[in-house]
Parts: sequence; structure tokens; C-alpha cells
Amino acid sequence: MKIQKFLLVFLIILTTFQTKADEGMWIPMLLEKYNIADMQEKGFKLTAEDIYSVNQASMKDAVMIFGRGCTGELISNQGLLITNHHCGYGQIQAHSSVEHDYLTNGYWAMSKEQELACPGLNVTFLIRMEDVSTQVLNGVTSEMSEEERQKTIKKNSVEIAKTATAETHYEASIKPFYYGNEYYLFVYEVFNDVRYVGSPPSAIGKFGGDTDNWMWPRHTGDFSLFRIYANQDNQPAEYAADNVPYQPKKYFAIAMDGVKKDDFTMVFGYPYKTEEYLTSYAIQQKLEIDNPHRIKARQKKIDILTLAMNADAKVRIQYAAKHAGISNAWKKWIGESKGLTRMHAVEKKEVLEKRFQEWANSTPENKKKYGSLLPQLKTIYTKLTPYRLAYAYYYEAGVSLDIVSYAGYWEKLITEKKIDTNTVENLKKATTGFYKNYNATTDKKLVTSLLQLYYDNVDANYQPTILLTIKNKYKGHVKAYTDQLYLKSKLVSEEKAMNLLNNFNGSTLKKLEKDPLYLLRQSIVALYDFKIKDSLLVLNNQIDLLQRTYMEGLLAMDKDKLFYPDANQTLRVAYGKVNGYEPIDGVSYKHYTTLEGIIEKDNPEIYDYDVPDQLKTLYNKKDYGQYAENGEVHVCFIASNHTTGGNSGSPVLNANGDLIGVNFDRCWEGTMSDIMYDKDQCRNIALDIRYALFIIDKFAGANHLIKEMSLVRKNPVEIKVE
Ligand code: ARG
Ligand code: ASP
Repeated sequence: MKIQKFLLVFLIILTTFQTKADEGMWIPMLLEKYNIADMQEKGFKLTAEDIYSVNQASMKDAVMIFGRGCTGELISNQGLLITNHHCGYGQIQAHSSVEHDYLTNGYWAMSKEQELACPGLNVTFLIRMEDVSTQVLNGVTSEMSEEERQKTIKKNSVEIAKTATAETHYEASIKPFYYGNEYYLFVYEVFNDVRYVGSPPSAIGKFGGDTDNWMWPRHTGDFSLFRIYANQDNQPAEYAADNVPYQPKKYFAIAMDGVKKDDFTMVFGYPYKTEEYLTSYAIQQKLEIDNPHRIKARQKKIDILTLAMNADAKVRIQYAAKHAGISNAWKKWIGESKGLTRMHAVEKKEVLEKRFQEWANSTPENKKKYGSLLPQLKTIYTKLTPYRLAYAYYYEAGVSLDIVSYAGYWEKLITEKKIDTNTVENLKKATTGFYKNYNATTDKKLVTSLLQLYYDNVDANYQPTILLTIKNKYKGHVKAYTDQLYLKSKLVSEEKAMNLLNNFNGSTLKKLEKDPLYLLRQSIVALYDFKIKDSLLVLNNQIDLLQRTYMEGLLAMDKDKLFYPDANQTLRVAYGKVNGYEPIDGVSYKHYTTLEGIIEKDNPEIYDYDVPDQLKTLYNKKDYGQYAENGEVHVCFIASNHTTGGNSGSPVLNANGDLIGVNFDRCWEGTMSDIMYDKDQCRNIALDIRYALFIIDKFAGANHLIKEMSLVRKNPVEIKVE
């Protein structure tokens, strides 16, 4: 036993010190300094200036934040962009109805006139970035309280952003790096007229659905196409019918050669959040509190939604995006917990912390700064535990429930007791929007089941008072309570809510204060406001401060090591190579999948695996055009690029900087990469760009779109499309 433990620690130390090939999300403007030599050694043929430059058109001019959370990239000189199907999903859904079901059937604009406006959708390009640490931290002293520090930083940041965008139409944001040890300025250009060009049916774009999500081998044709429009001067503009396709500074050529094992690949996009420098205490908390409870709550939601969606086509459309959202994080957390456990993540961090503590104790100066940091963090995490649990339920079983968040729209009116036409009009809009994707029976089942879970899992002290009412007045029968709620509330049906809004007066307002849905929301919000919020804030502030100092210490302790900053939705470069992996003992995964695998998975009985007939016909006729490699259509491939949420839709580029794929996911065994990367298990999943072209051309007959793109083969020979 002893020897085994010793061996484990030895192994951990060994792997901790090994070079971390392929790990990291790097800052574009620092590639020249830190990464380009390594990238070129690994096969990259271009320069750092080709990736990010403020003097010439560079790759960064072809990469954008798509909507709020995804990445997209330009693939023609007429503003055509590609992103994931799951990134365009909300837009596709918004344009869909039972009669025009673009989710099910796909959609292809056969001319620019047929491209559909997407109000609310925008894309954001990076104009430039700059290290502004000195300016942001100007006036900050070590004696300051955390609040004072934040105030100074905020004040400085506002100034810097103002100066950076003066007399331009640009926007600016300033983000902390390395937990606030550094700050960078980002200047952006935002385009608001973005139109939906096309997407395959879900049976292709979401093939494998939530069953295959986060998994390899994968066969999802996860792409959709949009186009950016600009005004006559090629500048961003609000939607106008006579806007014209945007002519970009740079777009990606498309590589027709495909990928081989060990090829260099690079992912260029907007990763949202990683936490690579957490302590063992934080990881333990994730493993014991956050992940298991949230997984449990979402499991309940998924079970209810799956049944309801399978039983009714309308419900399926209404809840498609909600279901995808709920199940996506649920499955990721399961994979993450397994991965962290398998990697001995907590033990690895403990080894690091032991070394840190020794280093901190080694000089009086270090000791003063870093000596008590880890024990303090440990204490705070212990204090944090009940609040994390309370917060998990407040969110999953409380405020995120559909009707509870809908009731939030009414809050202003009811509390301020002022009826003005504007508020009423906005409420009408919100009501129509909300009820478009609502099914009362399903909603009631969800609320009943989740409130039950809340009741069963959380200490009474951290329950909303409504649960106490359920205990006393309804003898603990949640269903008896929800029966009343849905019967009595004037807000839980579109008809009733609209009726209210059309005949509004002072007395209706008075009555609304007692509306059961409003009371439910109030009790949940009050729980957060009075029992959770302040404590969370105080503890999180303390953690922020200590993590910042810990990070500073880590950087000082391992001076020669190259640290990459955690993802924070700023543009990053990840690079690695095309490679399969071994998920479990005895199993080895190849690095790519083909159309053959789609046919193998075909099962008309199962929604997620119902292959469209037309795709089967193309397969049977081997009608692959120029998109096959040795007689096979490649569908997806995997590589060791370090990616996370937000990287969806990111361009996957080859050594020449040409587009070989569109990133859309990670393999399940590697989803702990947000916290700890394992070069043997972490793989990003990309759609092979040739599969997208095959679908656009052969499946959809939208050849005019292919003609817009530039397809290249090695030593680049332009391919002409007749
Ligand atoms: N797992 C991928 C990412 O996190 C894709 C999610 C969308 N697909 C789905 N079946 N829900 O976002
Ligand atoms: N599927 C993720 C996204 O939507 C990517 C990932 O988490 O790997 O951004």
C-alpha cells in the first residue's frame, strides 16, 4: 500500500514536470515573443505577423465573436462566414415554425435576396490589443482594500477605453489576465446586420444530437452559414434592405487536402473561460458540491424534456434550444468530474501546493507575501461550501426555471407601481416571446420536480420561504402547491397575461403583488438577496485577492516556465497536432471519421440517428464530387489543440494558415481541460471542412456559395468550380 502511494506521488511529480506539449491558449500579440519558434518547429509555415498584425491584413481580421458566445470566420470576400450549427441554432430556431421548419429541413438561400435578417445578432472583430497593465494599475497600492483597488481599476479602465475609441465607431473592453496581475485593452468593431444564409437539416447539423455530444467517434455536420452586411462605405450599420455584403480585409482560403495524423493544426478563436490555476481545495469543491448537485438537477430536467419532446412535434421545436443548453453543460460536468478524478487532479495540485509552500517559506520576503496564502484559501473554501450548495439550487431549481425568470419581467412594474405605456408594451413583447417557446404541461412538470429536489437537498436555512409554505400549508406535497400555482396565477398563461396587459389599471397592479407566481419569484430572489449574495461576494473577493497573489507567486516560483493566461473570451491561439487517443485500456481511436460511419449509425427509429434519404442516395451513388479523399468523405477529425467553450465555430487551420475544419467540441474524456489539460486525453473535435462543402454543394445544390470561396490544394493551385 505504502509503495503504491509512493509510486503515485512519484508519477504525479514526473508528469507535472514534463513539458506540456500542446497545452495552452496563447495571446496573439505575444506569439512572436513566446510561441512562433515552437510553432514553426512543429510545422507552421507562416509568421506571427500573418496571424496578428496591426499594420497589415492578418488572420485576426477573418475571425470574429459570433453572437454572444461563439466564434466564426470569414470564407469569402463577400462577407460569407461559417460557424457551427449549434451556434446559429437560436437564429435558425427563430426563423422556424411548424410550417417552415428550418431546424428539421435546413434552409439555403439560393440568392442574396433570400438571406434572412437576424435582429439582435451581431459579430465582433478585433481591431487591436494592447498591454495596459501599467495604466490600469496606476494609483493601485498594496495597502488598498479590495474595493478601493477595484474602484481605481474601473476608473482607469473607463478612461483608457474612452481614449482608445475616441472619434471612432469602435468599442473597447479591458480584461484582467493572470487574475489581475496584468490587463489588456481590446478594441473591437461590431457589425449588426448579419443574415442567415443556410444550414443543413438537424439530421446533419446536429447528427447524433445530445447522445453523441461531447463524444468521439463523431459524425456531426455542425455548421451554418451567415453573411455580414455593411453600408455603402463598407462600414458597420444597422439592418437596412440596401446594405451590401461586407468586403473583409482578410478571409480564409479552404484547404482541399484534408489532414493526416501528426499534421500541425491551429485553432484561432474566443475561448470563454478556463481555470487552470485553481487550488486543490477549489477542485475538491467542484468534485464534491458543484458538479454532482448540478448534474442531478439537470438530469431531472432532461428526463422530463426528453419525454415531452418525443411525444409532440411542437414541443420538440419549442424546447429544442433549451434542451440542448441544459444537457450540454450536464454532460460536460460528468466528463469533467471523471477526468479530474482519473487524472488525480486534486493530488497533483497538492504536490504543487507543497512545493509552493516550501518555496514560500524559503526566504523571509517570500514568507511575508506568500507564506499564509494557501492555508487561508483552504479556510475560505471551507466557509464557501454551504453557499456554493445553496447557490447551485438557487440557480438550477430556482431562478433559472422558465416561469420564474419570466416573472422577472414583471418585477419593475409591480415594485415601482408606475404604469407607463412603455413598460406595458415591453411586457407584451416579452410575453409573446416567452410563450412562443412554452408548453404549460411540460413547464409544470419541470417546476414540480425541481422544487421537490430543492426541498429534499437543501438545508431549510437556505431554502426559499415558499418551500416552508409547501411544508406547512401543503404538508410537503409540492404537486398540491404547483396545482394551485398554475390554477391561480394570472401570469402563467399567455392569454391571461395579455388580458391583464390590455386592461391595465391600479387595482390589477395591487392584485399582482399577491399573484402566486410573483410570490414564488420573490421568495427565490429574497433567498439570494438576504442569505447568499453578500457572503458569496465577500468570500469570492477574498479568493480573488488570494488567487491573484498565488498566481503572482507561481509566476515568480517558476520563472523559466511559460504560463498562458486563463481563457477570458479574448482572442487566443491554440496549436497542436492531428492525433487519435486511447480513451480506455485496450481501445484506440482513429483521428477521423467518414460518411461510412453515418450510414452505420443510421436508424430511422431514433431521432438523433435518422439519416436523410438524400444523403443515403449520395452515399450509395458515391456521388462525392471533388470532396472525397481516396473514395471516402471525411466528416470530422480530432487534434490536441487546447480549446474550450466559445471556441465553437473557430477556424481550424493547417500549417499554411488555410481552413481545414471548423471546431465544435471536445472529446468527453478530455473535458477536464478547463481545469487540467492532459495531452494524452484532451482532443478538440473539428468538422472536416470538405464535409461542409460536400453538403453545401451535393446535398443542398447551393453551388453558388462554393463559387464564392477559394479552394486550394497544396502548393496552392486554385481549384476552379465550373
Ligand atoms: N458540446 C458542444 C459545446 O459545448 C456542442 C453543444 C451543442 N450540441 C448539442 N448536442 N447540445 O458547446
Ligand atoms: N462546444 C463548445 C462550444 O460551444 C466547445 C468546447 O467546449 O469544446 O464552444
